[in-house]
Amino acid sequence: MKRKQKKLETLRFRRIVYDHYERRGRDDLPWRNTENPYYILVSEVMLQQTQVPRVLERYGLFLKEFPDISSLARAPLKRVLGSWSGLGYNRRALNLRSAAIEIMGRFGGRIPRDYDTLLTLPGIGQSTAGALCAFAFGEARPFIETNIRAVFLHHFFPDGELVPDSEILRLVEGTLDRQDPRSWYYALMDYGVWLKKNYANPSRKSAHHGRQAPFEGSDRQARGLVVKALTEHDMTGEELERETGVEGERLSRSLERLLKEGFLVREKGRYRIS
Ligand code: ADE
Repeated sequence: MKRKQKKLETLRFRRIVYDHYERRGRDDLPWRNTENPYYILVSEVMLQQTQVPRVLERYGLFLKEFPDISSLARAPLKRVLGSWSGLGYNRRALNLRSAAIEIMGRFGGRIPRDYDTLLTLPGIGQSTAGALCAFAFGEARPFIETNIRAVFLHHFFPDGELVPDSEILRLVEGTLDRQDPRSWYYALMDYGVWLKKNYANPSRKSAHHGRQAPFEGSDRQARGLVVKALTEHDMTGEELERETGVEGERLSRSLERLLKEGFLVREKGRYRIS
């Protein structure tokens, strides 16, 4: 009886999610109208921390400039960062290019289909690997990202208690539409986006939900300004200070971290994109 009840609950949940998808689903997004794993990889990395409208502005241009894994792997970092401009969190661009280089070297330029192998690539975590499996390869893997989390919290935890991702992941697994993981995850994501717009932040109940720290005056903003300036031309610390308005400790911290992460090199007192 208990199993039967659970099955009914799953079917009811699926109906709600798919009904929403039929009424309001987005079938107009370019990365949903392709089966090219590289196009899907690029979209997923962009969508990790950037909203759909902003990604739409940059996505086509990025693919025009780097139409396949091999062109991205061969491109100078400076060009990749230039093309990433406006998307934020530049580390993603660095990682995406490193992933392309590894895919060329280890897999002959073909994106691996295996979930665990995908996880070994730079910048690919459980949600990007799971999304690639579903969207590029039609394979059903449970994964969570912010919109999916919002759906499960809204539906299964209406009392607002703190819920760890491990518990949500079990529910994702238990309700997965294994016949059509691609449509299922699109439907979940669209429903999550809609819930977040129409309800007081359903993600607040998650034990994992972290607010993004304020951007103005942050080190993250400083690093972004430094990278942007250096994609124009190489500069000394003083020139950078003048050009970006980032000063003192904040500038030194930013430069140190960017050097350590492999964005920059310093040569004869000048900084340049590596
Ligand atoms: N819509 C919103 N987020 C998405 C994602 N990560 N993949 C595909 N479509 C999306």
